[in-house]
Amino acid sequence: MIVLGIETSCDETAAAVVDHGHILSNIVASQMDHIPYGGVVPELASRAHERNITPIIREAIAKAGIQKHDIEGVAVTYGPGLAGALAVGLSFAKALSQALDIPLIGVDHMEGHLWANYAGRDGKRDGEPHLCLLVSGGHTHLWQVNGPGEYILLGRTLDDAAGEAFDKGARLMGLAYPGGPAIQEAAVGGDPKFVDFPRPMLGKDNCDFSFSGLKTALLYYLRKMNDQEIEFKMADIAASYQAAIVDTLLDRMQKAVKKTNLRKIFVAGGVTANRELRVRLDQWRLETGIEAIYPPLEYCTDNAAMIALAGAAHLEAGEKSSLNLGIFPNLSLADHARY
Ligand code: KG4
Ligand code: ZN
Repeated sequence: MIVLGIETSCDETAAAVVDHGHILSNIVASQMDHIPYGGVVPELASRAHERNITPIIREAIAKAGIQKHDIEGVAVTYGPGLAGALAVGLSFAKALSQALDIPLIGVDHMEGHLWANYAGRDGKRDGEPHLCLLVSGGHTHLWQVNGPGEYILLGRTLDDAAGEAFDKGARLMGLAYPGGPAIQEAAVGGDPKFVDFPRPMLGKDNCDFSFSGLKTALLYYLRKMNDQEIEFKMADIAASYQAAIVDTLLDRMQKAVKKTNLRKIFVAGGVTANRELRVRLDQWRLETGIEAIYPPLEYCTDNAAMIALAGAAHLEAGEKSSLNLGIFPNLSLADHARY
């Protein structure tokens, strides 16, 4: 089934075409409008989506080497995300669904991230049930994935998400937004043991996360230093902070493996782009034989291929959304799952 995916939940306007799990095109326009503000400005995001959506969808169709009449279904993110931003993608998807007389399927953005690991696997879908750590700017969840729509929540963050810990930490260190890539670059050559930052949930007998204490520890650590000292020790501080986040993620994944006896774990969401995390996952795989898998970089951060893949799985199972589907800015996959 040829499915067009559309993603506009935050600051990326994205469209992709998939055919039976094969990704024919994956186009992402990242909005640069927000950089001067140190975070996403919702009104600017909606306007940029309006500007970008038509050319991005045209490009996705052209790159896929198909005509618009070849599309058999349209999958679109309907939440969670920024209301105005979601509305641009959903309206477009509904119009296309009506104009081409093809089914519409609304996809939870976080469910899309869960499916990102099927991208780049030549259309193969194997390995269910498996575990999935979902680490993005707004979410840190550990799931057991049994199949499309069948997700059991094993653990979640009690406060900040891992990406949020990177973003807030970077702001405290005076680094750019988004904080993850900025801390990763600042940490190059730094000593990860230089500051002994806390790893709050380490060793706890559940799969939950907590990052707010780490952020506070960084704040107090920086308060003791002047600007010059901070600049001089930036690589060591950034490497130590990054190590605390990565250690916590690894510890919780190990706990989930132990709890479920599942030996396949996917990692998804924007934080999966982190080099240190990827190195540690590779080490873990080599040392234990646990299949710790992460997607190619382009499918880690927000993209529409993951939305198209998740949507296609639902459409192929005979599901579809009504044209009355509305946006759901606070949609929570966790609310539909067993916990
Ligand atoms: O999944 P995503 O693109 O958007 C959301 O759905 O939130 O994730 C964005 C998050 C941001 O917090 C960003 O700082 C983080 O992913 N991120 C990274 C890296 N690249 C993006 N965190 C650590 N290291 C990176 N290289
Ligand atoms: Zn995302």
